[in-house]
Amino acid sequence: MILGIETSCDETAAAVVTDDGRALSSIVSSQADLHARYGGVVPEIASRRHLELVTPVVREALAAAGTRLDGIERIAVTQGPGLVGALLVGLSAAKAIAWARGLPLTPVDHLEGHVASLYLEPDPLEPPFLCLLASGGHTLLLAVHEAGRSERLGSTLDDAAGEAFDKGARLLGLGYPGGVEIDRVAREGDDRAFDFPVARVPGHDFSFSGLKTALLYTVRELGDGASVRVPDLAASFQRAIVRALVEKAERALRETGLERLAVVGGVAANSALRAALPDARFAPLDRCTDNAAMIASAARFTDSVPYPRYLSLDAYSSIA
Ligand code: KG4
Ligand code: ZN
Repeated sequence: MILGIETSCDETAAAVVTDDGRALSSIVSSQADLHARYGGVVPEIASRRHLELVTPVVREALAAAGTRLDGIERIAVTQGPGLVGALLVGLSAAKAIAWARGLPLTPVDHLEGHVASLYLEPDPLEPPFLCLLASGGHTLLLAVHEAGRSERLGSTLDDAAGEAFDKGARLLGLGYPGGVEIDRVAREGDDRAFDFPVARVPGHDFSFSGLKTALLYTVRELGDGASVRVPDLAASFQRAIVRALVEKAERALRETGLERLAVVGGVAANSALRAALPDARFAPLDRCTDNAAMIASAARFTDSVPYPRYLSLDAYSSIA
């Protein structure tokens, strides 16, 4: 059994996953409420909260899996990318447990973790496939040749798709995390009410900053009238993000010859995106946003680092 720990952003998570990909437990303690009043994640607050939560969350994951540390054979932990202060809490906890128990430690890349959310039972996806990874921090198209080995085809030139949702929600006076709120409010709106642009970016890259500006100008123009149009604005804004993601994913499918498309990351939970790509394989809803089951899953395809070498592992904030 692998104990996974994830603290890269505002979720403190731990999970127990077997070597053959069964998640015996997956505990996620979200700090969203704590950050909501600031409209986004405050790194210092996130680190401090991780510090308070990491031990109880690990305990709960072990208990929910019906095991104890004696039953664990290795520790998997997110090394990056993410907020360095937040990552260091999970990484230090993982080092301490590994050292105390004489276990190997597997550092996991958070993005490989999102992809590995697809490899869990009961219906693991077999590579090769094209993977659209859309989260709060990243928007990537990956050609996944085999588990643990993916090739980056494109990424965002500015904001990530989830970040666009979060910033758009903020402009509309909706809560945090914005993607969930826009998804909810958009159901009451007309997605053709406003014609928001889809950026024309060459190749497999994305851009969402122009869309955010277009929303800002529209809200300004509407002035006091904006508040009654929030559902239409949210639906039209969401449609533009979904169109950008779908167009790029379909183009990459055509150009790579890969036959299957998978979608992972927080934005994969979006109902309009799921509806727009009926043939794609989406990560299960509870594995889209950050969790530790995906981190432990990725560790199955990543080399462990033995004692004492893992003690010098450092967190990293951004992708190489
Ligand atoms: O993967 P994730 O939990 O964290 C990162 O690795 O960044 O993704 C969080 C992002 C946030 O930007 C959030 O607004 C977005 O995923 N998100 C959604 C939905 N649920 C979460 N975006 C659109 N629709 C949703 N239903
Ligand atoms: Zn994530």
